[in-house]
Amino acid sequence: MKPNEPSRTALMIARQRAAHQLLDHGSILDDPFAMKILGEDEKEVLQFANKHPLASIGRLFTAARSRIAEDALSGAVERGVRQFVILGAGLDTFALRNPHRARDIRIYEIDHPATQAGKLQRLAEAQITLPPWLVLVPVDFERDEVGEKLAAAGFLENAPAFFTWLGVVPYLTKDAIVRTLDYMSSIPNSEVVFDYMEPPEAFSEELRQIEKARAEQLDKIGERSCSRFEPAGIAAILRSHGFSATKDIDFHQIASRFGHAIQSLAPGHLGAHVVQAKH
Ligand SMILES: C[S@@+](CC[C@H](N)C(=O)[O-])C[C@H]1O[C@@H](n2cnc3c(N)ncnc32)[C@H](O)[C@@H]1O
Repeated sequence: MKPNEPSRTALMIARQRAAHQLLDHGSILDDPFAMKILGEDEKEVLQFANKHPLASIGRLFTAARSRIAEDALSGAVERGVRQFVILGAGLDTFALRNPHRARDIRIYEIDHPATQAGKLQRLAEAQITLPPWLVLVPVDFERDEVGEKLAAAGFLENAPAFFTWLGVVPYLTKDAIVRTLDYMSSIPNSEVVFDYMEPPEAFSEELRQIEKARAEQLDKIGERSCSRFEPAGIAAILRSHGFSATKDIDFHQIASRFGHAIQSLAPGHLGAHVVQAKH
């Protein structure tokens, strides 16, 4: 990320979520705040969504990973979990939609200080007030200790917690990834949903070219995707952190479960996975 500037990829993902509402009627992820938080008009969002014929693939993955995470969170809440931590929250609107408000869950949004400040500004501009169950915690995963910052914000380290970490792992160094996993595994009965990317060889030919161009563009905006994993590598890292009951959902599974909900979904596949793991 560029110092002192909100994440540009967080903005792109927010546009994908907004486009999902406009083009697919939010059929995977119904998000009434997706357009509001962006503060852009429909024309701009549709222009973004139609800029490339393969953008529909990214829209599918964006909506599906949040849906998988939010469904898994609902299961955790049923089991009594009351702490939810969104790591690298970007312009995620779950805290505004929170369907578990009656269960008294506390939501901690962790993000890079510059992205969080940008989000607060967007919320103010959209006249959206912060809900009382939300705690914002600025953290730079590369420099700060997540645990220290969370504890200082009131998070209970001896109570179970559910974490999501969506669209973040590819942008972090291995060291920051391992330190964050170390922390999550120190919380009793912790659960996490995150996504990761495989090396480019796992992408279909056309998408590989696009990935290459995207990597160059991300390099320019200082958000280079630096960590990629093979599925066996991720499984080994999770095992070594004591996570079990791991589910690794690949793009083919995502497309067969949710693909029908995306308008004019282009052919092709991403080497992208969503993982659910319990400690
Ligand atoms: C692609 S966005 C995903 C945002 C959000 N999870 C979503 O799905 O909409 C990546 C997020 O990772 C955060 N991020 C990247 N590097 C970070 C770092 N070193 N420390 C904290 N957050 C970071 C960015 O601020 C951004 O919010």
